[in-house]
Amino acid sequence: MRILLLGKNGQLGWELRRALAPLGELEALDYPEIDLAKPEDLCRAVRQSQPQALVNATAYTQVDRAESEPDLAMQINAAAPGELARCASAIGAVFIHYSTDYVFDGRAGRLYHEDDPPNPLSVYGRSKLAGEQAVASAGSAYLILRTSWVYSLRRDSFVKKVLGWSRQNPTMRVVTDQTGSPTWARMLAEATAMLLARGAPHIFDWIYERRGLYHLAGSGAASRLEWAREILKLDPDPAAQVCRELLPAVTSDFPTPAVRPLYSALDCSRFEAAFGLRLPPWQEALRLAMDPD
Ligand SMILES: NC(=O)c1ccc[n+]([C@@H]2O[C@H](COP(=O)([O-])OP(=O)(O)OC[C@H]3O[C@@H](n4cnc5c(N)ncnc54)[C@H](OP(=O)(O)O)[C@@H]3O)[C@@H](O)[C@H]2O)c1
Repeated sequence: MRILLLGKNGQLGWELRRALAPLGELEALDYPEIDLAKPEDLCRAVRQSQPQALVNATAYTQVDRAESEPDLAMQINAAAPGELARCASAIGAVFIHYSTDYVFDGRAGRLYHEDDPPNPLSVYGRSKLAGEQAVASAGSAYLILRTSWVYSLRRDSFVKKVLGWSRQNPTMRVVTDQTGSPTWARMLAEATAMLLARGAPHIFDWIYERRGLYHLAGSGAASRLEWAREILKLDPDPAAQVCRELLPAVTSDFPTPAVRPLYSALDCSRFEAAFGLRLPPWQEALRLAMDPD
């Protein structure tokens, strides 16, 4: 299979570059080779590459900065994915795109299903929701995989932040009133590669029959405090920690420009039923991600 991956240097893109490689011929691009802020240039790059699968791991992910750069966030997260879906469709390629739990307002208080009505609270969430809508209306054989609280040990992520804070502060305050589904970027990448492998060699028809929106995140739910506690427990270098106390806090203790949903954990049973794949419980994936051996 010939695959074009966009966003190869991001948390997810870095893992996708490795997970997709065994599937065939992989071309991987990132900014500035390709700029999603210029949707008019995108089709040329897709046509040149002639992929059977176009995988988009690019996004404007600076949730707080998006509040003051709404046009740029919309361009990268909404206009560009719509254009990519159109280009993929025009050359008979499948289009894989990722979205976010931040499309929800977090008031459900239970795992979110794909049919739950979105109601984003931030510019980022609105731009990603607009991206979903653009892909669904322009795409043919497309998948939108909504995920949540993505981390990797390479780029700046909550896991890396907690480890960093634990080496500097004797006490740490972490919020208990935000709940999500922590998702290791590697597991998300591997599930993407496995589903593409399952669909080969008739990938277009196979995805077309299953096209649509799916939740795909680490199984289960955790508050930020529970997640931080597990990170410290699994720290491969606990001797480096100076933090002796993890204290509960609430979101309003740390005002940020963007409002985040308080509860955005995802139910992934639709994905499991369609593709026979599921991500492991978030604690298990975290243990694997942090295993030093
Ligand atoms: N991170 C999370 O917690 C989270 C949660 C839910 C859903 N998601 C979704 O999951 C997907 C992957 O997220 P991630 O965490 O891997 O994001 P990430 O680490 O921020 O990576 C995003 C990638 O997009 C690239 N990019 C940004 N602006 C671009 C532009 N104008 N043109 C071309 N490339 C550009 C970035 O390049 P630079 O590094 O050069 O900027 C980076 O390589 C996204 O769709 C995101 O919305 C993420």
